[in-house]
Amino acid sequence: MESKFTQSGTAQITIDGKSYDLPILKGTSGAEVIDIRTLNKQTGKFTFDPGFTSTASTESQITFINGAEGDLRYRGYPIEQLAEKSTFLETSYLLMHGELPNTSELKQFTDTITSHTMLHDQVESFFYGFRRDAHPMAMMVGTVGALSAFYHDDLDIEEEAQRDLASHRLIAKMPTIAARAYKYSIGQPAVHPQNDLSYSENFLNMCFSVPAEKYAVNPIIADAMDKIFILHADHEQNASTSTVRLAGSSGANPYACIASGIACLWGPSHGGANEACLKMLNEIGTVDRIPEFIARAKDRNDPFRLMGFGHRVYKNYDPRARVMEKTCHAVLKELNIKNPVLDVAMALEDIALNDPYFVEKKLYPNVDFYSGIVLSALGFPTSMFTVLFALARTVGWISQWNEMLEDPNQRIGRPRQLFTGAAARDYVPASKR
Ligand code: SDX
Repeated sequence: MESKFTQSGTAQITIDGKSYDLPILKGTSGAEVIDIRTLNKQTGKFTFDPGFTSTASTESQITFINGAEGDLRYRGYPIEQLAEKSTFLETSYLLMHGELPNTSELKQFTDTITSHTMLHDQVESFFYGFRRDAHPMAMMVGTVGALSAFYHDDLDIEEEAQRDLASHRLIAKMPTIAARAYKYSIGQPAVHPQNDLSYSENFLNMCFSVPAEKYAVNPIIADAMDKIFILHADHEQNASTSTVRLAGSSGANPYACIASGIACLWGPSHGGANEACLKMLNEIGTVDRIPEFIARAKDRNDPFRLMGFGHRVYKNYDPRARVMEKTCHAVLKELNIKNPVLDVAMALEDIALNDPYFVEKKLYPNVDFYSGIVLSALGFPTSMFTVLFALARTVGWISQWNEMLEDPNQRIGRPRQLFTGAAARDYVPASKR
């Protein structure tokens, strides 16, 4: 990656009467940053920013979010246009290489990914080590983290060709691993990839076909699945992407880095929110119970939060939520499903968006608010929702990991702290405590 920021000015801080200059850096879009790389050397002090609410951890050219406007762009292209006009593999190429592929580039990329869809045969016996009732995310974290035990020719991160091979293997095998985890959890045999199917058709076939019967993928459902993957593909420096970058900054192998991202995504405040949101909507059950849950969400003494609502960056509607809602209606119509939970979700959204608490705190539906309803309609159990999020986000993690390794300014990530623990003291023998 070629660094492209410029200096737009200088910030000055004064400590004990002494002034220090810090460059202000400007990118192509979004907030400028104060470059504090020399702060500790100049002042002996650190900045303090738990949760990184005011901290840019890196320069990046992949995904841009304008949270105030509810604007999300992959390599400059609005998410709405990509969801409507692109495919997940074309968007994956865009995220990885920075430009939309031409016809021959897309065919070559598609053929490359397709050629890596199968798993090493011994991964099959690895799976049998899990309990059948293991959470599919546990199987994902475990299996992806273990892939470096099965693939040894793509672990040298200094070699671009090996990084490419690992990147292609991960994008290609995540659907196979996700489907394998699902089949294993319901006691059905694995369905192997079919390389004559598209990426999303192949995934749906591996999840929902059985050896005993013919299965035809519904093209409208495959299109919805592909859109959902596009919506989840990348999202700037979120918690799981930052985890992948931090793991990668130590030189860890690609499978270990992506496994760390899957582990972080699992949390209910992050990628686990889609599973938690559907559980919440089912718990609410009927529209007349919504006020009770809204009151709980506003009660500072109640840890309950409206899952699928709020976002660290979006202080406006998450653009992915709008596309997800449209997709949700299309899938329910195609499958002729009347899901009362959708009525609850739409009523909840309407009530919350007119409630002063949510308006004042700028809490809007995020990508996870409708996704659970549509994934449930597609036939997935709630335990698979975050697995699908991880499947799609793998290309974003891969793209950010590669960008980090190519960044001339990147070093091993090693934050400092504000220490408030015990001052220095000598050991006291047990007889004297
Ligand atoms: C994802 O970062 C990304 O990009 C993530 C993601 C991606 O694509 O990678 O977009 C995916 O993780 C989407 C978010 C999914 N999570 C949820 O839906 C869980 C519910 N939402 C929250 O827990 C919360 O909104 C977060 C975690 C998403 C954001 O938390 P922040 O930015 O730390 O905000 P906060 O917790 O400081 O909240 C600010 C205020 C607080 O009230 P006060 O302390 O100021 O009085 O808003 C309140 C919060 O109590 N608040 C909520 C709320 N979310 C925030 N109150 C009720 N319900 C909510 N959902």
